[in-house]
Amino acid sequence: MAVPEVRTIGVVGLGAMGAGIAQLAVEAGYKTIGREVTDDLGAHAAERIAHFLQRKVDKERMSVDQREAALARLSLTCALDDLAECDLVIEAIVEDLDAKLGVFAELESIVRPDTILATNTSALSVTEIAAAVETPARVVGMHFFNPAPLMPLVEIVRAELSSDDAVEAAHAVGERMGKRPVRCHDTPGFVVNRVLIPLLNDCIRVLDEAHVSPEDLDVAMTSGAGWPMGPCTLVDLVGIDVHVHASEALYAKLREPRMAPPPRIVAMKSAGLLGRKSGRGFYRYD
Ligand code: CAA
Repeated sequence: MAVPEVRTIGVVGLGAMGAGIAQLAVEAGYKTIGREVTDDLGAHAAERIAHFLQRKVDKERMSVDQREAALARLSLTCALDDLAECDLVIEAIVEDLDAKLGVFAELESIVRPDTILATNTSALSVTEIAAAVETPARVVGMHFFNPAPLMPLVEIVRAELSSDDAVEAAHAVGERMGKRPVRCHDTPGFVVNRVLIPLLNDCIRVLDEAHVSPEDLDVAMTSGAGWPMGPCTLVDLVGIDVHVHASEALYAKLREPRMAPPPRIVAMKSAGLLGRKSGRGFYRYD
């Protein structure tokens, strides 16, 4: 499948991940169209991007002119129709298969036949998402890590019917965004989450087994295993709901007990303790 030279990128869903991806896109020089469901959510994402770019200016990692040029490349919309001109659309909405299928089917009716469609899903099957469209050759996974502007990796996921051209184009976009893209096949959890999700679940189980506090567990893993961030801090950053969903999705596919979310974190999700984004998870955030 022939794919276009990527000049304009659409990002569907501007939560923490989508806003981070949109930030990377404008910084890399792409005209970027971000789509959220309400103007307020779009404005919130734009403020977040403007804030982080300002921090780069403050730290002399970016000039004022570069910041302004990057922000000028970003436009916001609530209408998927406005993504018609995009060469690549990256979907970063909630981790709900039906919702993603709906977005992909609608996108296909809007964009050009050669537009590449990517999903940032962390634990769903890219092949299942691609089944929503009539031309699955154009669909790939582009899985960024949280926080997207800081984490160097992006997994470029080849689904069953992805074309070589779509995979290579996504890889090239990842490189231009300054990332370290790795290519992999569409297996549950891809590369990192296949390893990280059960590991984090083990950490959460250790809280109760070893009667260790979240603070001390984080100290143990940062000071004793060299992790850049302790597991409780990390799960709070990723989001308790996101982590539980990813665990359930991997467990459903692989049936390994370590994949299943520990009851303690499922209870936290039910209680609305979602981590940083809700103000409370393992820690409190004021
Ligand atoms: N977006 C953009 N910029 C951001 C940001 C964000 N979300 N968060 C921070 N920044 C910027 C800020 O400007 C910040 O500087 P100021 O505080 O001066 O404003 C700057 O980055 C540096 O931030 P930190 O001082 O916090 O940086 P650090 O050196 O402590 O490193 C880290 C932070 C890179 C996140 C590091 O702690 C780390 O590597 N943690 C592990 C993260 C990780 O494992 N992520 C993967 C999660 S799993 C996942 O994502 C998979 C999935 O599918 C769920």
